[in-house]
Amino acid sequence: MMQRTHHCSALRAADLGASVVLMGWVDTRRDHGGVVFFDLRDREGITQVVIDPQQVPALETVARTLRSEFVVVVQGIVSARPDGMTNPKLATGAIEVRALQCEVLNAAKPPPFEIGEATTAAEETRLKYRFLDLRRPPMQRMLRQRHVAAQIARRYLAEHGFIEVETPVLTKSTPEGARDFLVPARQTPGNFYALPQSPQLFKQLLMVAGLERYFQIVRCFRDEDLRADRQPEFTQIDIEVSFLPRDPFLDLCEGLVVALWREVLGVELRRPFDRLSYAQALGAYGTDAPDRRIPWQLVDCTDAFRGSEFRAFAEAVAAGGIVKALTIPGHSAHFSRAVLDGLPELVAPFGAKGVLPIRCDADGKWNSPLVKFFNEDARAALGHTLGVVPGSVTLFVAGPFKVVNQSLSLLRLHFAKALIPPNPDHYDFCWVLDFPLFEWDDTEQRFVAVHHPFTAPHPDDLEHLANDPGRCRAQAYDLVLNGSEIGGGSIRIHRTDVQSRVFEILQIAAAEAQEKFGFLLDALSYGAPPHGGIAFGFDRLMTILTHASSIRDVIAFPKTARGYDLMVNAPSPVNPQQLTELGLRLKP
Ligand code: AMO
Repeated sequence: MMQRTHHCSALRAADLGASVVLMGWVDTRRDHGGVVFFDLRDREGITQVVIDPQQVPALETVARTLRSEFVVVVQGIVSARPDGMTNPKLATGAIEVRALQCEVLNAAKPPPFEIGEATTAAEETRLKYRFLDLRRPPMQRMLRQRHVAAQIARRYLAEHGFIEVETPVLTKSTPEGARDFLVPARQTPGNFYALPQSPQLFKQLLMVAGLERYFQIVRCFRDEDLRADRQPEFTQIDIEVSFLPRDPFLDLCEGLVVALWREVLGVELRRPFDRLSYAQALGAYGTDAPDRRIPWQLVDCTDAFRGSEFRAFAEAVAAGGIVKALTIPGHSAHFSRAVLDGLPELVAPFGAKGVLPIRCDADGKWNSPLVKFFNEDARAALGHTLGVVPGSVTLFVAGPFKVVNQSLSLLRLHFAKALIPPNPDHYDFCWVLDFPLFEWDDTEQRFVAVHHPFTAPHPDDLEHLANDPGRCRAQAYDLVLNGSEIGGGSIRIHRTDVQSRVFEILQIAAAEAQEKFGFLLDALSYGAPPHGGIAFGFDRLMTILTHASSIRDVIAFPKTARGYDLMVNAPSPVNPQQLTELGLRLKP
């Protein structure tokens, strides 16, 4: 076989007259009365090739038989394109290669969709033929950007003294909150490995082992209900450090993100990133992952309705609930009767009883069932607090804290999508700090860990650990970008007594704690340094970095929303013999 001399992106006017050998796939092919033009594509780009059987009669057959996606080798002479035929949009647009030899290395069936820049193919088809989808230039660019980003992360972390260590994939379940994927152990029937939800405990053990700075670009597995930004297996940039307090650690993490944006996008991010407390985030945005590109904030107006004549809200407040409102200025025309009537349905999934609107006319008049419950002064005061202005719409929700925040957070995003044109180059980063350590779980009637059970309590809240755990804040942090949680972590507990108390609050009995993570408790008693860490969701980061529309578009071989790999057809039944070997029997 001939040896390739150039990639398809390489040739320029300076190469005119050179004899070259190119290899790749036939992109588009045009037949101009026997002279065949085709774009030859390889991973680097496109070069136009001309086969003229009048000049090279030996190429007549190949010129006729070439089809899209055939793999070919072309030997020919770099020639100038005729006047008016150059293509300034293409790097190789000034030249073409006039073929002297052309050999089909492999024919191809007609692909189920065009291998082009854009595609109209259904996502199922793209996923079934992923090897063809990945041949499309945007997917190739994505794979490369992902590679570049991984290299930048490795280099940055190595330069800052981090050591990459691999941790087991066949392991024991770690309590991260999601369901585990289990793997039956043939050699010890009835026992199972779990695939790691994250290397959480291993990285802590590496700190006890004295490594001081660990990282890994690592696959994690969680059997959870999939959402738009989740995959059952996903990749983390996983990090752990010893002897570094929270703030310098967050600085170090910002440095990594800044390096990624600088080197992948050429964008210089402003530092330090804003920091807000969990309480502030929930207060102003109703969520711990706020999209602050949207200028509208929530306002608490519980006090205005305490004991008010407006029974529905007064009762919600009397029952320990809250009332919050979201004011959207300048778009009252959007809020037709039909839009307003559709609001309750939007918030029903969170358990909200309804949404109460105020539409403020151009002349400042309030259209709202609320009007009659407030006198002139009270109305002016409320309007001032809420930012009601002519042409604004205010949406109220009353009820339990979580219901109100989830509902208004959703409405905020919902109307921003409709009313604010997206700006893909606006990157809003913020750290959300001081999460609660525990959250009361009504179904289980016990406290559960908000981050995970190894998260250290806030030093100012240690006293609450003894008698009011619900008030205890955690030394946990999330990095939020444009409303997406792209990283999360915490300073860890490094003392056995504190860890035991946390297990006690979580109602994890000593025997159970010993059985589940005795090795960690054991390790903590052998001289554990103060330590903490973070994991970045690499797929989520790449989704935003590449402006992809879905997390599936930044993963080479992703799974569908139902967890299927449509290309290899997994999951799939296995041979009964395999089950027998594993000591498993399926229910009929
Ligand atoms: P956490 O569970 O917050 O923390 O995960 C860290 C980050 O991983 C990303 N992520 C996901 N991405 C895609 N699909 C999923 N199913 C998915 N789940 C999580 C998110 C998230 O912020 N061990 C701790 C980290 C630590 O404490 O150091 C952990 O895994 O971007």
